[in-house]
Amino acid sequence: MIPPIANRFVAGESPATALEHVRRLNERDVAGIVNLLGEHYETRPPVRSDAAEYRALARDIAASDLEATLSVKPSQLGLDLGEDVFRETLADVVDVAADRDVFVWIDMEDHTTTDATLDAFEDLVTEHGGGIGVCVQANLRRTRDDVKRLADVPGRVRFVKGAYDEPAAVAYQDADRVDREYEALLEYAFAHYDGGIAVASHDPAMIDVAIELHEEHDTPFEIQMLMGVREAAQYDLAAEYPVSQYAPFGDRWLSYFYRRMTERTANVRFALRALLDR
Ligand code: FDA
Repeated sequence: MIPPIANRFVAGESPATALEHVRRLNERDVAGIVNLLGEHYETRPPVRSDAAEYRALARDIAASDLEATLSVKPSQLGLDLGEDVFRETLADVVDVAADRDVFVWIDMEDHTTTDATLDAFEDLVTEHGGGIGVCVQANLRRTRDDVKRLADVPGRVRFVKGAYDEPAAVAYQDADRVDREYEALLEYAFAHYDGGIAVASHDPAMIDVAIELHEEHDTPFEIQMLMGVREAAQYDLAAEYPVSQYAPFGDRWLSYFYRRMTERTANVRFALRALLDR
């Protein structure tokens, strides 16, 4: 059982609780992005079992009337075991999902995985003609080039600031610089992409930039935020723009919850208040 407090950030331990959470989001016009928690597998059994869970989720979503996509991590689908394992497992999940019109996002992990992730995405999305999206990180120095390369590729792109501690040789270290990069990436994408832009940020300033660019270029976009973070804003924004919430679930919730706690004092304050209120 996930304790109260953690369950603000995690949609339960089972696919059923995750889909029930999505149903409640849908009632408020927010779509769900369902992620089974798991990463950095060094053996094949958890890779196989998580891939099977994602295929089952794709079938369940297709059989329901839920507005939901999936989001997978490369190292969850075997990247640490080899690029071939990752590509094969990803293709298995995407084949089942694409047959049922269920969209699959690929999360981006640290910079050592960027090439393998983008290459696998590009090959698979070209084969399918869409149905998949990939995440790019504004903190990486390479990302302007990646975003240009992705303009000619079908599929969607999720723009984030970047969650991993990266060395200065490959990543901007200064938060203001990352913000400027994020804005520059959005400016390029809104001007050059036909659509398929996901603005995944809780930052009101970045969301305002995206809305202005959308008004200027008329390029469709969606806003994505995490479960448990600025949820009132998610519901407000959903009255005017497409909004999706990234909702992780599963029994490996502790490290995810720990990350949410350590990244922001506001989250810790919330947790302490919830403890005191019990
Ligand atoms: P940032 O942390 O820069 O904060 C800017 C402002 O946003 C704050 O000043 C505040 O106003 C507001 N804000 C931020 N957090 C808040 C909170 N908890 N409560 C209230 N206000 C808050 N990363 C990655 O490397 N690979 C990936 O695949 C993904 N995927 C992903 C999907 C989705 C849907 C989201 C929302 C994010 C990711 N990320 C990610 C994480 C991303 O890279 C980044 O670390 C976090 O989103 C934090 O950056 P922000 O732009 O949200 O705001």
